[in-house]
Amino acid sequence: MNNKSKWMTFLCSLSLLVSCSPQKEQPKGSLLLCHEDEITEIIGQMTLEEKVNMLHGKNMFSSAGVERLGIPDIEYADGPFGIREEMEPHSWNSLGLANDSSTFFPTGSALAATWSEEMAYEYGKGMAKEARLRGKDMILGPAINIQRIPTGGRTYEYLSEDPQLSAALSVKYTQGVQDNGVAVCLKHYALNNQENDRGSIDVKVSPRAMHELYLPPFEAAVKEADAYGVMAAYNKVEGYWCSENDMLLNKILRDMWGFHGIVISDWGGVHSTVGAAMNGLDVEMPGERYMGQALLDSVKAGVVPEEVIDSKVRNLLRVRFAIQPIAKEDANKVMTAQPEQRDIAYKVASKSIVMLKNEGELLPILPNKYKKIAVIGDNAIRQQAQGGVGAGVKALKEVTPLEGIQNKLNNFEIKWAQGYYNYTREDRYKNISPYQKADKELMAEAVQLAKESDLVLFIAGNNREVETEGSDRTCITLPMGQDELAQALAEANPNLVTILVSGAPTDLRVVNEVSPAILVSWFNGSEGGNALADVLSGAIVPSGKLPFTYPIQLEDNQAYSLKVYPQVTEEEKEDIFVNLVNQKDGRQRKSPTANYSEGIFVGYRWFESKQIPVAYPFGHGLSYTTFDYSDLQLETTKQGIQATLQLTNTGKYDAEEVVQFYIGRPNSQVERPLKELKAFQRVSLKAGESKPVQIFIPRERFRHWDEIDKGWKIESGKADVYVGSSSQDIRLTGSTNI
Ligand code: BGC
Repeated sequence: MNNKSKWMTFLCSLSLLVSCSPQKEQPKGSLLLCHEDEITEIIGQMTLEEKVNMLHGKNMFSSAGVERLGIPDIEYADGPFGIREEMEPHSWNSLGLANDSSTFFPTGSALAATWSEEMAYEYGKGMAKEARLRGKDMILGPAINIQRIPTGGRTYEYLSEDPQLSAALSVKYTQGVQDNGVAVCLKHYALNNQENDRGSIDVKVSPRAMHELYLPPFEAAVKEADAYGVMAAYNKVEGYWCSENDMLLNKILRDMWGFHGIVISDWGGVHSTVGAAMNGLDVEMPGERYMGQALLDSVKAGVVPEEVIDSKVRNLLRVRFAIQPIAKEDANKVMTAQPEQRDIAYKVASKSIVMLKNEGELLPILPNKYKKIAVIGDNAIRQQAQGGVGAGVKALKEVTPLEGIQNKLNNFEIKWAQGYYNYTREDRYKNISPYQKADKELMAEAVQLAKESDLVLFIAGNNREVETEGSDRTCITLPMGQDELAQALAEANPNLVTILVSGAPTDLRVVNEVSPAILVSWFNGSEGGNALADVLSGAIVPSGKLPFTYPIQLEDNQAYSLKVYPQVTEEEKEDIFVNLVNQKDGRQRKSPTANYSEGIFVGYRWFESKQIPVAYPFGHGLSYTTFDYSDLQLETTKQGIQATLQLTNTGKYDAEEVVQFYIGRPNSQVERPLKELKAFQRVSLKAGESKPVQIFIPRERFRHWDEIDKGWKIESGKADVYVGSSSQDIRLTGSTNI
């Protein structure tokens, strides 16, 4: 058979998929289990060399199929907030193609700020559509680790500090991707909650915190959305690298959750051949240092049984069968970025913007309210699709805040001043800190403009060089002297609206004092500037809610307060460095330990339990309208709690509200946070409209991890229900018995 007809045979067998429903005895109803017999047959035809050849990177972003049998390679698309451009086969250099610019979707914390499962699904769908145009099979995303510290370098990429919000959105993102013909790769499994020392850190965490907080987004996406791929994180957990961690990969992921897909390593995150092969890793990416010849030798020497190799090949073939391959000549025919996806990016961005405060109703900017508007700040003109280390998007288009304001607020006289210095990649490379005094010249120019204007829009925040993969921020202060600048601007003009362009919390003590209105507008994708301008003008009523807490100061965060982060002092860093130099293999550096001593008290769970005041609580976000909550009714059955309430829009704008349901267990025998998010719903209401809101909280969500019996338990007894507009703005309470 020639290659083409082999390919056709393979494709024909794939068409079985359409009518496939998994056989009865197969658990979880996974679509991955539709072709077990054919897969057995294919494996039977393969040589050992062909099998091992599938278990490592072929190129930077692909792993090999078997040409002889017509099995196509697997093509990976770096994500999670836009399909990365094509790279040279063995380097991080761009290929410089003309057609591979894609849509830049709002980054993770922005998506989470929508608190919208519908938006998460659309987002996944949009990502999949663009991945298909590029011939990709698996998206390296969503990135769903819990935001444990506000300084975490990838906070902007991750979703939330809360497991329920993260889990719900991970499920929908996964379904959106996989329903549209592409596989997800959930990352970074697991406990990759900091970037400093990510390649050496050993995380020590209680099983309870691990199961209740850090794993649920992964668990939900596997169990509820049949995720096809998982990426093993760089770090160690309880002494073992995530890429060779029997507990995480075999016992939890496969045995407990019933995962049937592939586990790939993070790029360069493999540390041994036998360890990785025997403990659950399927594919080493992007090279073959450990799972190429060395793996072949280990099988031949009888150290790694061939059945282990077969089961990895089976996992790969399951994914291969579930995802329709695209022939190389059919990929990249049209531009990756398409208008439908730009619409999705706009919708997500417009629902993600969080209004932290709006004193004196400075906003919205109604037609005759002001004449001259000053837009101040380097971030007003900065694109955020790329920057820092790691995943960047070669965006076809990115509307900056200034462009959006100029597009949409064109009846006003708009002038811009830079205000503060642009912190660049070169600065980062030279180890120049972003935490500098204000630039006097830029400040003077901005102050002058503020004086001459009726309203000041201060576009502040971080940029993608400040928040970056590979390292954590050293503090959460606003960079480049922005606090000093904000004070000077407020003195010049008290009508100061601060807009934070960032993906993570910042210290707002100064800005809060001087700025009557504050918005968070994130790294908000291709349409970020337009969405911001629509919120400023009132065309869109803000409805985003914080997916994390804004602490008053960094030291209030649980890991800082308990002094378990940062783990490595400057002297210890020296020590590690010496250690590294003295080792023959530079990879065997000493592992600092990350003790998650706070246990289950992360984010708002910590602040509430310790009664530490916060700047803005988890779930907070104001609107131009007001909502009234009334008539909470609770009905409890064996299946869970059915909650009903009446929600009324009592203001003048059509708007959306996110109703949040928290549960407290006052008489629990185990230690618990005061309350925990268990469900939420985004509701749309016309001005003056009133609607019943119904939400079901399944009984399963009341489970806790029992450390003694090493399993889930549901404690019967009293449950307090708190329904609110944020974790601290509780409008209705009730109680029931579980
Ligand atoms: C990141 C992954 C990413 C991979 C490929 C790694 O450094 O941690 O999230 O998908 O690189 O770019």
